[in-house]
Amino acid sequence: MSTEHKSLLACRNLEKSFKKDGSVVHVLRGVDLDIEEGETLAILGSSGAGKSTLLHVLGTLELPTRGDVLYLGENVSQYSAEKMARFRNRELGFVFQFHYLLQEFTALENVLMPALIAGEDRNKYEARAKQLLEDVGLGHRVGHRPAELSGGEQQRVALARAMVMRPRVLLADEPSGNLDSSNAEMVRGLLLELNKNLGVTVVLVTHDENMAKSFQRQLVMRDGQIIRNSK
Ligand SMILES: Nc1ncnc2c1ncn2[C@@H]1O[C@H](COP(=O)(O)OP(=O)(O)OP(=O)(O)O)[C@@H](O)[C@H]1O
Ligand SMILES: [Mg+2]
Repeated sequence: MSTEHKSLLACRNLEKSFKKDGSVVHVLRGVDLDIEEGETLAILGSSGAGKSTLLHVLGTLELPTRGDVLYLGENVSQYSAEKMARFRNRELGFVFQFHYLLQEFTALENVLMPALIAGEDRNKYEARAKQLLEDVGLGHRVGHRPAELSGGEQQRVALARAMVMRPRVLLADEPSGNLDSSNAEMVRGLLLELNKNLGVTVVLVTHDENMAKSFQRQLVMRDGQIIRNSK
């Protein structure tokens, strides 16, 4: 039996290229990264550095061109489409700059959506969904539709939704990019609280150095590579 340490989420020699107008754009150019269970990691870097692409590939939303994504040492890049979708739904939570809430559903229904998509019994998840909405300060807004919520509130619903399946990793791509500074501050606080209280590992892409500073580790990307890793 191997006693080798296995990170929660890792990538090895990750490359991602896109074909564009007959030429190839190399967006990730050999990224190695180990993310440990329970840590908070911020990814910084200028626009076009490859931050979102890295998050998408780590989150199996996109396949690598070369290299591997490992989850507890298992190569998830080689999973079948079905197994990969199940892995993504069960183990990972996502928050993006835009909330992608469904307009015709209430806050509570939006939070429940990943469970419903996974074919789970609504009753089994309803109490948790309500608790998560409480946790993000929206216990009094469960029956509101997205149009009846402020931008900051919408993003907090998205945060609760990302947590409903008890993911071990939360991948957040500029979750406060569209928010004013007080709402951005609230999202930052909530990400750290979810990490502390629920133990979820948080990987955050941000342009905000102050936000990044409150995370345990900071990475800086440039031209598809990690050029600084504070650990
Ligand atoms: N589907 C695609 N096809 C072609 N090129 C792409 C594609 N997706 C991303 N790119 C290119 O890859 C590079 C990195 O994009 P990415 O979105 O990862 O950057 P980023 O670091 O997240 O930037 P930002 O801070 O502006 O969000 C960019 O030059 C972009 O144009
Ligand atoms: Mg981006």
